[in-house]
Amino acid sequence: MITYRDDKQLDLDEVIAVYRACSLGPRRPVDDRARMGEMLANADIVITAWDGPLMVGVSRSVSDFSYATYLSDLAVRESHQKLGIGKELIRRTQTAGGAATLILLAAPAAVEYYPHVGFTQHHSCWMLRPGEQVK
Ligand SMILES: CC(C)(COP(=O)(O)OP(=O)(O)OC[C@H]1O[C@@H](n2cnc3c(N)ncnc32)[C@H](O)[C@@H]1OP(=O)(O)O)[C@@H](O)C(=O)NCCC(=O)NCCS
Repeated sequence: MITYRDDKQLDLDEVIAVYRACSLGPRRPVDDRARMGEMLANADIVITAWDGPLMVGVSRSVSDFSYATYLSDLAVRESHQKLGIGKELIRRTQTAGGAATLILLAAPAAVEYYPHVGFTQHHSCWMLRPGEQVK
């Protein structure tokens, strides 16, 4: 049975292990423990999924709990994918964000996932990466 938690009293190495256990690992700074620690500490909504003592899924978001929740990372261990854990992590993230809209950038491996579970594509997403300047 999978259980869920919404607290941030988590072991950082266990969180990093979930990223490493799926294709999100190479797309996040998992080798930079300090940065991963900041990402976790400064997130507003962190939901984790557990198979007994093993953390098997993480949803990490930034939210104002009113208008926008940015779902930054959604990761489920490959060993536990396609069991509905991702959907439940999203549901709980949405609930925690109150009336906020859930917004995210899909990783290549998940481009087909989000429409499948009900998200609407937005064709005008813009980024200013670190080091890029406002002109
Ligand atoms: C994408 C991810 C979070 C999905 O989590 P999951 O727990 O496996 O997904 P669920 O079990 O909730 O799947 C729900 C439905 O989506 C489908 N689905 C799962 N992964 C999918 C994918 N990559 N593409 C399309 N459909 C997918 C499932 O078959 C299921 O379909 P059904 O409801 O018709 O039976 C997980 O595969 C993952 O961690 N991937 C690697 C990291 C990643 O890319 N994360 C997204 C970053 S933006």
